[in-house]
Amino acid sequence: MYVAFEGIDTVGKSTQIERLHTLYPDALVTKEPGGTPLGRKIRHILLNEGAIHPRTELLLFLADRAEHIEAVIRPNLHRLILSDRSLVSGIAYAHIHQNIPIDRLIELNRFATDRVLPDLLFLFDIDRENLQERLGQKCRDAIESRGIDYMLAVQESMHEIVDALGIECVTLDAAAPIETITQTIHQAIKERL
Ligand code: TMP
Repeated sequence: MYVAFEGIDTVGKSTQIERLHTLYPDALVTKEPGGTPLGRKIRHILLNEGAIHPRTELLLFLADRAEHIEAVIRPNLHRLILSDRSLVSGIAYAHIHQNIPIDRLIELNRFATDRVLPDLLFLFDIDRENLQERLGQKCRDAIESRGIDYMLAVQESMHEIVDALGIECVTLDAAAPIETITQTIHQAIKERL
């Protein structure tokens, strides 16, 4: 079962994945961008290179995703896969950054993923105040530096994208206690395994 964790930066996806991994030690934990050797090189370019043309940026994310699907996701679909991000991030960040219609981005992502979609998605939501506070505590990468309004617009569009893709989705409040969130996720996975 391919499970993806989605939401903008700082919502707590990686914390929850770590906690779930202790509950499911046999699960395969992975991420986008950077879940393969090639992806780690692409990730370095994407997050550290200053001025990349937006179209180039999109194609690099798509290349990372294609490699990740074929090298990591598809061969392991019989296992529990916990993935930090998916095509939902791919579509949402590009839609807001470049104003490309969602339909067109879905088509590009269908090509990159060869139609492999998450079976279940956990979508974390955060409010402006909490986001501001959490961002203040960390060093921002090139994409986080686009600011809070950008990130909140990305968050909003993630809901629309999940609906358009028809992926089964559990929405989570990022401000809830960490243990409560873990229990909600654990329960949802248990019911579907
Ligand atoms: P993260 O792995 O620390 O979450 O960082 C990845 C950054 O890349 C994050 O700001 C979200 C962004 N991103 C995109 O802009 N497009 C994409 O397709 C993906 C997967 C991530």
